[in-house]
Amino acid sequence: MVVDDPYQHFIGPILAKDDGPDPEFMSQLSLQALGWAARGRHWPPWRGMLASTAAILQRQDPRLQRQCLGLTFPNPLGLAAGFDKNGVAAAIWHCFGFGFAELGTMTALPQRGNPRPRLFRLAAEQAALNRMGFNNHGSLRAATGLTKQQLPPPGLRPALLGLNIGKSRATTMAAATEDYAVSYGRLAPLADYMAINVSSPNTPGLRDLQSPEALRQLIGRLRATPLPTPHPPLLVKIAPDLTDGQLLELAELALDLHEQGELAGIIANNTSLDRQGLEARRLITGRTLAEESGGLSGAPIRACSLALLRRLWSHLQGRVPLIGVGGIDSPKAAWERLTAGASLLQVYTGWIYQGPQLVPAVLEGLLKQLDAHGLNAVADGVGTELPWLP
Ligand SMILES: Cc1cc2nc3c(=O)[nH]c(=O)nc-3n(C[C@H](O)[C@H](O)[C@H](O)COP(=O)(O)O)c2cc1C
Repeated sequence: MVVDDPYQHFIGPILAKDDGPDPEFMSQLSLQALGWAARGRHWPPWRGMLASTAAILQRQDPRLQRQCLGLTFPNPLGLAAGFDKNGVAAAIWHCFGFGFAELGTMTALPQRGNPRPRLFRLAAEQAALNRMGFNNHGSLRAATGLTKQQLPPPGLRPALLGLNIGKSRATTMAAATEDYAVSYGRLAPLADYMAINVSSPNTPGLRDLQSPEALRQLIGRLRATPLPTPHPPLLVKIAPDLTDGQLLELAELALDLHEQGELAGIIANNTSLDRQGLEARRLITGRTLAEESGGLSGAPIRACSLALLRRLWSHLQGRVPLIGVGGIDSPKAAWERLTAGASLLQVYTGWIYQGPQLVPAVLEGLLKQLDAHGLNAVADGVGTELPWLP
């Protein structure tokens, strides 16, 4: 029997129902295997398997290259934060065709996160609800693990690595800045770029750090941290649930900090507290979707993520680079986000539902749109609002 897309054939039926194998267990299982592959990548059987994966999934084309954040990305599509929280597969994300991968969120203190179940599949909507709560080994162990993988140094990696940091739950809000600074000091020397997560809905008080005063202070403190290397570009990841006023205030702050060389860009956006467009039902906890806390990701947040990105772009007009993330699950959605003003794109939930083939499908889709519009490179499409040509 020849199977067109083994992922859709074997995993697709599991993803078609809310219940069935626990989504967190499935993620852990795949990460376990990816971690082994990353550690054993020079061992011939793993090397062979990774080379075959890369041959199927990678698309190398100079038109896909992006000069952005002072870095060269082999292509504009990255893995969003949250899948590889400890960076166990850092060495092999390029084999899956990604131009970059954001690892984390990592916190200064190791932590277990919220009690399970804390990740729910919403199959009908191709979505997920999660309240993981930054379960991770802590930034010290993550830094050791990354060093042990003997990665090429920043700037020379086949897929760039962003390291995403957040506040430890046990740390008070008053001590939040110092908590971030600890992780920043440990991880920044290993990163192509750093991202500060001030937008997860699952750590109490975290989103308050999006206020202009708090964010200015946090970024100032991180940039003043002594490092043995030059500081990598720093980005801030924001929530989709900001009011228009809050968003514009944030955009102004980002512009100011960008002009001072303190902030490289904005990642828009994290999961949403909104529950609109979801079929009413009870989850395995017996609670309704409205009663269940956590952040929504996947197809239902696509429209609001796109609108938020458009709003940022119309205000900033390309003066601050934007990474677009939220509900991207097709070449068309990727093109829409790029032409709305995203310099780079990230996927998470869509990648789980569509499978690894999403990456080459998106990259090929972007190339076809370039041809159809007579453009030379993806960079030329950013913020143009050029339509998707079927
Ligand atoms: C299970 C899960 C865990 C996540 N964990 C993190 C995280 O630790 N840090 C973070 O910045 N974003 C995290 N995210 C948010 C994603 O990076 C992304 O911003 C969001 O899911 C929207 O993109 P998507 O619709 O493509 O999934 C997580 C998302 C999911 C589904």
